[in-house]
Amino acid sequence: MWENCRTFDGMKRILFICLGNICRSPMAQTIMQHIVDEAGEQQEFEIDSAGLISYHEGEEADLRMRVHATRHGYRITHRSRPVRATDFHYFDLIIGMDDANIDRLKELSPDVETDAKIHRMTDFCRQKVADHVPDPYYGGDQGFENVIELLEDACRGLYDSLKA
Ligand code: 4NP
Repeated sequence: MWENCRTFDGMKRILFICLGNICRSPMAQTIMQHIVDEAGEQQEFEIDSAGLISYHEGEEADLRMRVHATRHGYRITHRSRPVRATDFHYFDLIIGMDDANIDRLKELSPDVETDAKIHRMTDFCRQKVADHVPDPYYGGDQGFENVIELLEDACRGLYDSLKA
């Protein structure tokens, strides 16, 4: 997966993307950082998240997402930011939550080299069968729980595939 990696310092740079950057992608960032921290590999990974709209720029993650995260032992500290053109060069992997995310990322991607960095989060799932991480924004509690369950599975799969 690292054939497109342009960094020479051994750092793996991963950017998670969703629409608003207040629910799914900051949750993915937090879970992935937790896995990396538990492994004591903070020096090997740089993990961030961003959104495809700037509407929530500067805001903390959605309170409902933070409450559900806390119940699972996570603390989300990220503040929403929109994806930037420079992200496509800086990060090695750019991971979207659903097909709409992927389509928009491909529109924004400047060249074929950066196109190859774009992946779908659920492609890393090992236990769950899903083709996207559903947007929980307009739903209820179960939607937020589902996001965490899918992201825990996908982040573990992503981590294992990077260490393989
Ligand atoms: P996210 O959820 O993409 O998982 O952060 C959403 C957050 C905000 C909106 C939509 C989805 N919104 O329309 O403002």
